[in-house]
Amino acid sequence: MNVLILGSGGREHTLAHQISKSPKCEKLFVAPGNAGTLLCATNIELDIIDFKEVAKAVQANEINLLIVGPEAPLVEGIKDYFDEKEEFKNLKIIGPSKRGALLEGSKERAKEFMKTYQVPTAAYQSFSKDTLEAGKQFLSGMKPPYVLKADGLAGGKGVLILKNLSEAQHELENMLTNNKFGKASEKVVIEEFLDGIELSVFVLTDGKNYLILPNAKDYKRIGEGDTGLNTGGMGAISPVPFADEAFMKKVDEKIVRPSIDGLHKEAIDFTGFLFIGLMKVGDEPFVVEYNVRMGDPETEVVIPRIKNDLLDVLSRTAEGKIQDIQLEVDSKHAATVMMVSGGYPEAYEKDKIISGLDKVEERSDVFICHAGTKSKNDQVLTNGGRVIAVTAFGDTFQKALVKAYQNAEHIEFDKKFYRKDLGKDLV
Ligand code: AMP
Ligand code: GLY
Repeated sequence: MNVLILGSGGREHTLAHQISKSPKCEKLFVAPGNAGTLLCATNIELDIIDFKEVAKAVQANEINLLIVGPEAPLVEGIKDYFDEKEEFKNLKIIGPSKRGALLEGSKERAKEFMKTYQVPTAAYQSFSKDTLEAGKQFLSGMKPPYVLKADGLAGGKGVLILKNLSEAQHELENMLTNNKFGKASEKVVIEEFLDGIELSVFVLTDGKNYLILPNAKDYKRIGEGDTGLNTGGMGAISPVPFADEAFMKKVDEKIVRPSIDGLHKEAIDFTGFLFIGLMKVGDEPFVVEYNVRMGDPETEVVIPRIKNDLLDVLSRTAEGKIQDIQLEVDSKHAATVMMVSGGYPEAYEKDKIISGLDKVEERSDVFICHAGTKSKNDQVLTNGGRVIAVTAFGDTFQKALVKAYQNAEHIEFDKKFYRKDLGKDLV
């Protein structure tokens, strides 16, 4: 089978690495990829939002399976684009249709969907420019902290949590009338604050049946002790120690089953990953958000724990035959530490030489995942805020973290930074 993965981060490198091990994999491509994906696949330089370019690459390389990594092409309708064309009728795609992707593309849509199918989530109301005054009133009737969410995609930055009422009212106005997040904040969802601990649950579905993949916890803030600005993710562990069997049963019954049934009922073509951000409040799960793709850096700890042939799992899912798959999960714990460029998530420099990658032992329980790198004249250079994720395995998450940190020490680049406190909140 010939496979094309779209994206250029740690998620895509991890997927490519796992798929390259499959005996069913003939040719593997990543577009645009990074210096890591070059080690296990062929990179294709293209703009993944330009579907015509993607289609050319699919045709030229006789691709059988297309895996869409990030949300933007999904929200723009890449699945529908290929489905509408006769010449691609045999192309299998991992990634939902545009209607499915709206669960991530619009917070208002996601909340309405949850309400319809009685999926537990924070109480909410949504507002637009025309209802700004009603929104301010609504805020004054709520208890702090106040949660404001831009409706559309805002690169993970569209959520504000504010302690003070007048500040919340001011920010609501900023979002609705001053385009604080551009078009994404033409509508704003105001919701009740959920006081609990977060985790992520990953579901692979063919739109009817589903598999619950290993769960994970990521570390979002840049600073130790979970302080400072939000990032794409500074590290992750899997499994989540506080998500025991009884809790996961509730997640399945109260959240996953009704969500998939809702998609099915609305005849939404949803083949791919549903990533559910949850808050555990007491012993109860509540949905914070849906994403229609895998998480990054969660992929780096979730996917390597799956023992099945990943390509076989994904191609059967794309054929609508997920019910035949018996998922086998490694009991080992996985941890990943994200090494970032100094300054990230604000301005940072690129093109720094990365050294020491060869000092990391080649072994089955450590994996160097490239997140933002590029290859130039036989050197590996930094090419993003998040640069390298070091994943390791162990009998406990603490042991996995020790091993990931030991290996991260070997890797050098100017102004490198990583959080050294991962997992400390869990003991
Ligand atoms: P989202 O983009 O919806 O995942 O929100 C980003 C982050 O804001 C989440 O990961 C949570 O840490 C936080 N958050 C979002 N909604 C709530 C809520 N209702 N209560 C508490 N924290 C929230
Ligand atoms: N790590 C969070 C995300 O991928 O959205």
